[in-house]
Amino acid sequence: MSLAPQDFFPAIAPWVATLDDTFPGAWVKPYFAQWEVLHLLSIALLGGASILLNLRLIGYGLTDETPAEVERNVRPWMHLGVAGVIVTGLLIGASNAERLYTSEAFTAKMLGLAAAIVLTYGVAMPAARRDGALGGAGRLWALAGLAIFALGLLVFGVSKLVNPGLWHVITAAALVVLFVTRGLTRILYLTGLVALIAVQWVMTHLVIPPDDFARLDPANKAFAWVFAAWVLGAAVVQVVTAGRSGGAGAATKGLAYAALLVWVMTAAAGRWIAFA
Ligand code: HEM
Repeated sequence: MSLAPQDFFPAIAPWVATLDDTFPGAWVKPYFAQWEVLHLLSIALLGGASILLNLRLIGYGLTDETPAEVERNVRPWMHLGVAGVIVTGLLIGASNAERLYTSEAFTAKMLGLAAAIVLTYGVAMPAARRDGALGGAGRLWALAGLAIFALGLLVFGVSKLVNPGLWHVITAAALVVLFVTRGLTRILYLTGLVALIAVQWVMTHLVIPPDDFARLDPANKAFAWVFAAWVLGAAVVQVVTAGRSGGAGAATKGLAYAALLVWVMTAAAGRWIAFA
């Protein structure tokens, strides 16, 4: 089963085929690389804004400012980054539309983008403006955002040749948790991570021969699950033990993790368009 846009919208195939011959696709095509640089710079901008905002909600980073102050300061950069990534994305997308139309990574990326917008604008930013309080609307947006995020992860995870990109998301989550945990939790967590990396390396380089893909694939997938469970477990411990420190409660802190990682998933899926 394929989950590319062409499988959901077969009727638009003739229109998609014309996009790189008409304005603005034809106009952007000779300057694809330059526009893609602007795409990546916009990602850096929104990524930085998202990291500062969500780490503050989790209780780390700019803790000498209230979450509301951090939100006010990052807001213009968030708007600029999100608008920039969408405008440049649509332009480079129009110049190479058939590649996106046939890409399962692009489906995962668009689900990620929708979830990221919901979790950022419907949950994280309003919660930060209220110094961590979620509010009724925030809870509803959170449910919608998490459901779309889960769907995006599912598409990413079942798409052949694309799913190794999920390691970026797991790695980003592992680094965020390493950054925000403290004391004994951090030492235990890091020890577990290093042990897992060592065991995975031995298994996939020494025990299973490096060209035995029939056994390597399931082994690496199993490790992905174990890593994800280890990181998630440590994040839950961090959120629960931190309590209301820094202003936000456990639910807002958990959602801040999601609001940050959903952008990572979107960017990872964007990168993996090229590999499928
Ligand atoms: C309407 C929204 C968007 C569209 C239409 C779009 C379209 C594209 C296209 C056409 C490419 C080039 C793919 C290729 O030929 O390999 C690309 C690459 C990429 N996109 Fe987007 N994009 C959008 C939003 C985003 C967002 C929100 C993010 C991140 C948060 C993102 C992250 C990336 C990344 C990391 C790459 C890979 C760049 C590289 O080659 O290294 N995109 N995107």
